[in-house]
Amino acid sequence: MTGFQTFYDFGSLQRFISNFKKKPSLGLVPTMGALHIGHLSLIDRAQEENDLVVVTIFVNPKQFNNPIDLENYPRVPENDLSLLRKYERVVVCMPEVIDVYPVTDPYKKVSLGLLDTVLEGEFRPGHFAGVAHVVHNLIYFIKAQRAYFGLKDIQQLSVIRHMVSETQLPVKVVPCETVRDKSGMALSSRNLLLSQDDYRDAAIIFKTLDFVKQKIKEERAEDVKKKAIELFNSGSLKLEYLELINHNSFKPYKTGDDYGACCIAAYCDGVRLIDNVLL
Ligand code: PAF
Repeated sequence: MTGFQTFYDFGSLQRFISNFKKKPSLGLVPTMGALHIGHLSLIDRAQEENDLVVVTIFVNPKQFNNPIDLENYPRVPENDLSLLRKYERVVVCMPEVIDVYPVTDPYKKVSLGLLDTVLEGEFRPGHFAGVAHVVHNLIYFIKAQRAYFGLKDIQQLSVIRHMVSETQLPVKVVPCETVRDKSGMALSSRNLLLSQDDYRDAAIIFKTLDFVKQKIKEERAEDVKKKAIELFNSGSLKLEYLELINHNSFKPYKTGDDYGACCIAAYCDGVRLIDNVLL
């Protein structure tokens, strides 16, 4: 493979792949751009496990329930490409809407059950249907054997696993650890929209999650939740939800649960942020 390659449709990407002497194993890192170290850690992992990594950059209109959110979503393609250029065995695909959602669409809608009605599902109607659809079509058209997703979007990960199992797509979904800065703040493309002061204030998210993680071993879940909300509200962010759940079923967490997670969504000066910790 010579030089860094960017493709703007799946057809040219597939032609490029078919020119390899031996069919490469393909890892897919789907992104909406505004790449940060969290994305690069997914790429590193995908590189370890595959001959070739395809990074897609596609701001998926179907997963934005709020048109203003879609409009404001950060788009910095030149910056993204300059971050990716240094990689070997990595190609970029920036498809158009018509490529991802062709007239003959291969996706048969999957019912998401509870995942679509709690937490993100409740506050962002239609969001996960859009995520399931785009991720299905990206994997389907790119023919990836593995696809990499961050645990920061823990509910998204469950949605994708469910969609893959229902549609029987031949792909392995690989979850990857959340990457955090020194203050514990999870890296996210949306952080680009925060001022320095906002960014500092947003540290209350991780502080609260960490509080829950420590206290849950000692106190009843209801009491921990109440105290955590008080702690969160001592900061300046507007809380949308703070929930303790079982991250397999997405049902409420019960004291002693093996698969606990605490999930937060909040607005920081109009920017919606989410994060979670496993308990
Ligand atoms: O997590 C994201 O950036 C997006 O939801 C994804 C998985 C790339 C689908 O558009």
